[in-house]
Amino acid sequence: SGQALPQSAGAVASAETAGDAPVLTILYGSQTGNAKGIAQSLQAKAEAAGYTSKLLSMADYKPRQIKAETHVAIVASTHGEGEPPDDAIELHEFLGSKKAPKNANLKYSVLSLGDSSYEFFCQTGKDFDERLAKLGATAVVPRVDCDVDYESEAQAWCEKFIESLKSDFTAQAGAAVAMQQGSAVQAVAAAQTYTKKAPFTATLLTSQKITGRDSVKDIRHIEISLEDSGIQYQAGDALGVWFKNDTALVEELIGLIEANADETVEVDGQSLTLAEALISKLELTLSYPGFVKAYQEATGSEALAKLLEDKAALREYLADRQIADIVRDYPAAVAAQTFVNACRPITPRLYSIASSQSEVEDEVHLTIAHVDYDAFGKRHQGGASGYLCERLEEGGEVEVFVEPNDNFRLPANPDTPVIMIGPGTGIAPFRSFMQERDAQGAEGKNWLFFGNPNFTQDFLYQLEWQAYVKSGLLSRISLAFSRDQAEKIYVQDRLLEEGKDVFAWLEEGAHVYVCGDANRMAKDVENALLDIIKTHGNKDDSEAKAYLLALRKAKRYQKDVY
Ligand code: 2AM
Repeated sequence: SGQALPQSAGAVASAETAGDAPVLTILYGSQTGNAKGIAQSLQAKAEAAGYTSKLLSMADYKPRQIKAETHVAIVASTHGEGEPPDDAIELHEFLGSKKAPKNANLKYSVLSLGDSSYEFFCQTGKDFDERLAKLGATAVVPRVDCDVDYESEAQAWCEKFIESLKSDFTAQAGAAVAMQQGSAVQAVAAAQTYTKKAPFTATLLTSQKITGRDSVKDIRHIEISLEDSGIQYQAGDALGVWFKNDTALVEELIGLIEANADETVEVDGQSLTLAEALISKLELTLSYPGFVKAYQEATGSEALAKLLEDKAALREYLADRQIADIVRDYPAAVAAQTFVNACRPITPRLYSIASSQSEVEDEVHLTIAHVDYDAFGKRHQGGASGYLCERLEEGGEVEVFVEPNDNFRLPANPDTPVIMIGPGTGIAPFRSFMQERDAQGAEGKNWLFFGNPNFTQDFLYQLEWQAYVKSGLLSRISLAFSRDQAEKIYVQDRLLEEGKDVFAWLEEGAHVYVCGDANRMAKDVENALLDIIKTHGNKDDSEAKAYLLALRKAKRYQKDVY
């Protein structure tokens, strides 16, 4: 029973009844058929011994399934410069990628076919062996590398492998009970939920810039592995991300206040060094009036005292500044604990999730604008975005938790049409929505409004949307590239242009979703919707407002804005 990620005790129970007996999965990667022939002969021997087995070309095997396996035989040939045969390419690559799941329960053996006159003799088999071992699996029979004259060696390997599995496959009754107990423990572990206070330590798989080289924006597509967490999220949810501050920034601050990195300070009842506190516990990449006040008291600065008296001047001063800018402007020796007390505790950032688990399983994807700008002669980065987009390397750890958002949900009925308005990173939840609707086989129409500065630089996930248009999942897409022409064009302008159809969709029961900038975009879009309702629904101001309010109450108008 390889249910590594039971959703509930119930899910485990049903999986258990279906899968008590171990199964030997025999996978072959074969160009000419030799490997396939050996695999078939192995299966015949397995059946003769009374084992349950499955025989598959690697091309027909879902790579992620490897996680659920307990016994696997690999028979693979090698081509050219050590390359796998065509049917093995996907699995070969997957097992060597960061996405490959660990599986310490897996017992396996590899038989490789090759030609010793080539430099990369049996390379594919060697790779499979190495990659499975790296995932924690155990080679119960050492790999055998066969040369062109492979027959007798291959048969000997088959016999040895079958023999080595005897105790697992013939003591099935006892094994089933033991495995059920094991899974019950797993179910308890999975039932534990990760929270803001008790986050899951996840792995960064991918961080990729998806805006062009000449873009005015730096937007990243981030993939995070939730493997072994049992975490489940829904389309519309956000991911909370804890981050660490930049060590260079922390060093600079410690220097400016003439403190010592190793001094012990207390944060939230916990003792740690000043450097540790500034890296992981305190908010350094924002600015807040509370800091100015506390810092003024600590330093006795008269200039800051004056600034604090003028609210408007203070607000203007703090715009675009971070804690460090204030300290740079008014450097002074400050006791470590006093400085720590002046800073706010760090808070995780919430990002709208850009993936659906029906598509990406135990991954979570985000679309993040990398906050990165020069001001006052220094580079400034966002705390969490700087961490995810720059400081954290692929393979590195990041603490996360799911923040459910029941106010941003796809319609329960898959036939209901949806209108999605998501300029910039506001696109994120709609990628999740489309993956989910795709998996549901939803029949409802889908209409996306997207905007960004330039078509060539900033059409986020362009290929994915085009594929959805082609498949018919995305019924319509309306694009507003604001800077591709003399006058600005925004999503609300496209909405107005399409007002007649937008209203028709509303009358058909469409749900409307808006994600992205709260300050201007969401307001302008709302005004456009009101305009459309007035014009095409023949209503006055207050009737249009009532119409929109009714949509909101029916949860047909939902916003995720920030
Ligand atoms: P701009 O920066 O060229 O003005 C995503 O950030 C997109 O939203 C960009 O194309 C941006 O245009 C645009 N945008 C800026 N202000 C907006 C607003 N009030 N309403 C809608 N889109 C806006």
